[in-house]
Amino acid sequence: MIQAPRGTFDVLPQDTARRELLEGHAQRILGAAGYRRIETPTFEATELFTRGVGEATDIVQKEMYTFDDGGGRSLTLRPEGTAPVCRAYIEHGMHKLPQPVKLWYLSSFFRAEAPQRGRYRQFWQVGAEAVGSSGAETDAELIVLLSELLGALGVRDVRLRLGSLGTPETRSEYRHELSAYLRAHEQQLSGEVRARIELNPMRAFDAIDPGTREVMREAPVLLDRLDASDAAHFAEVRALLEQAGVEYELDPSLVRGLDYYTRTVFEFTSDALGAQSGVGGGGRYDRLMEQLEGPVTPASGWAAGVERILLAAGELPIAPPVVDLFVARAGEAGGRVAFGLTRQARQAGLAAQLELAGRSLKGQLKHADRIRVRYVAIVGGEREVTLKEMDSGEQRELSPAEVIPTILRGSRLA
Ligand code: HAM
Repeated sequence: MIQAPRGTFDVLPQDTARRELLEGHAQRILGAAGYRRIETPTFEATELFTRGVGEATDIVQKEMYTFDDGGGRSLTLRPEGTAPVCRAYIEHGMHKLPQPVKLWYLSSFFRAEAPQRGRYRQFWQVGAEAVGSSGAETDAELIVLLSELLGALGVRDVRLRLGSLGTPETRSEYRHELSAYLRAHEQQLSGEVRARIELNPMRAFDAIDPGTREVMREAPVLLDRLDASDAAHFAEVRALLEQAGVEYELDPSLVRGLDYYTRTVFEFTSDALGAQSGVGGGGRYDRLMEQLEGPVTPASGWAAGVERILLAAGELPIAPPVVDLFVARAGEAGGRVAFGLTRQARQAGLAAQLELAGRSLKGQLKHADRIRVRYVAIVGGEREVTLKEMDSGEQRELSPAEVIPTILRGSRLA
């Protein structure tokens, strides 16, 4: 039997209501703040991600679905949405629009990770990007918007971690300092950390082995090395979050899995999730546009995992779908009347369903009850229709032409 590929899942009809609720809240919250929706292709030139996300990242090193398009070009299923949004910004000359250009998306992304609860190979992200603004208020506003979205969906036990990475120059100097520090304590580090001292020393902060943790307690932190303007920017982000009443924990070693970040970085986690506790995260990426050969453009954004939000959200108020009318048939006759009546009902704005399974009348009424319809029209022939109101059980004989006006008036049938 052929099954869905490992790490993927079907979104079944019973799952869609919660996803639609999330989409509705995202549309409302981000739309009200002036974000407009964008959709980019599912696959892109591989180079977009190697350059944008970074050669040394796990995403580029191990997690991309890359293939040849048959004509010798290398394509990759998008592992994230920020680089594609920047590519689209450059390609469509969006620097000519009023800045910042505020965009949001709800799309599926692909990473070849080991599947587990909350971690899939195809997953959905809702994301927001504000391109063309360097202000601290842009970062703070983005964080507030994500916090509101998580709040609207009742995501439980949320924590926000906040840090700043400064500029690439500060970071590179700091990395040398950190590498030197790690080399000086090499014997106490785990093999994995030791192997990455030059490539990615920041990863040492993530290590769980006691030896490395001990060493990291005394390690220099980047937050102490920020230059004056980055430090002032970060202080302003913090002040605005405090003003907005958004609680956060300062995390001087917050490491995100993508290389494009500058200045602000943040991550929302939920203790209601297991090992994969990252609900959403992002930050500022002031140099990404140049890396993609676009105009120098500061930008900031975030993305949050739809499945993780829904896992951490618990029960959501989902109203059952309303069905105004079910058109049943008492026998062979009146098939076309029933068909026509259903169509007219929909044209009049009613949610109407036609019997399609050839059930007995008793079976049809049982089915109508199950889908919780308000009215059943039982077509007995060319001219006779019995309209039954399910709540009261009252019914009345009508001509086909009287059925829809009667429902629309909502008058009692008895
Ligand atoms: P990210 O942290 O790699 O950031 O992903 C954002 C969110 O996507 C994660 O917090 C998580 O909820 C969800 N996610 C990631 N991988 C998986 C997976 N394998 N299965 C299920 N959910 C997953 C980014 O992608 C950046 N583009 C965010 C950003 C936007 N930064 C600036 N702008």
